[in-house]
Amino acid sequence: MIRVLFVCLGNICRSPMAEAIFRHKVIARGLEHKMVVDSAGTGDWHIGQPPHAGTRNLLDRHGIRYDGMFARKITPDDIQLSDYIIAMDRKNVATLAQLGAPQGNVRRLLDFVPEMQQSDVPDPFYTGNFDEVYNMIDQGCEQLLTYIREQEGI
Ligand code: 4NP
Repeated sequence: MIRVLFVCLGNICRSPMAEAIFRHKVIARGLEHKMVVDSAGTGDWHIGQPPHAGTRNLLDRHGIRYDGMFARKITPDDIQLSDYIIAMDRKNVATLAQLGAPQGNVRRLLDFVPEMQQSDVPDPFYTGNFDEVYNMIDQGCEQLLTYIREQEGI
């Protein structure tokens, strides 16, 4: 199995949105038996909570499921076992490096969208702009899936 882990700070806004969108795309292409998709936060404030209402609202509007998803903090196993660790911003990348994540396994989601003006997904927990974040994450997930399929030959 190819393990893809999305990482943000709280694991309630951006990385659960990415997890749900990416899994939706994986299922739409019939690849769900080849990939495990998950997400985690570097912080522990929201452990056990479902995705933020703003994230749920966007996912509902697009018919994307998120049932059974609850915030959790990243573990050493996550770091060791994930093939692709996909961070939302440069702060996440720095924290992952401190936690010992192999540099080659860590990428920012928007690095897969060369035409995007910025490489960090802004944090909607502070900006409130979930629509903007949804579009960025959707484009990132689309390009990421293309990249992984090429890398893995699937
Ligand atoms: P996320 O957003 O990293 O996209 O889940 C945040 C959620 C909570 C907090 C920060 C960011 N917080 O500080 O509680």
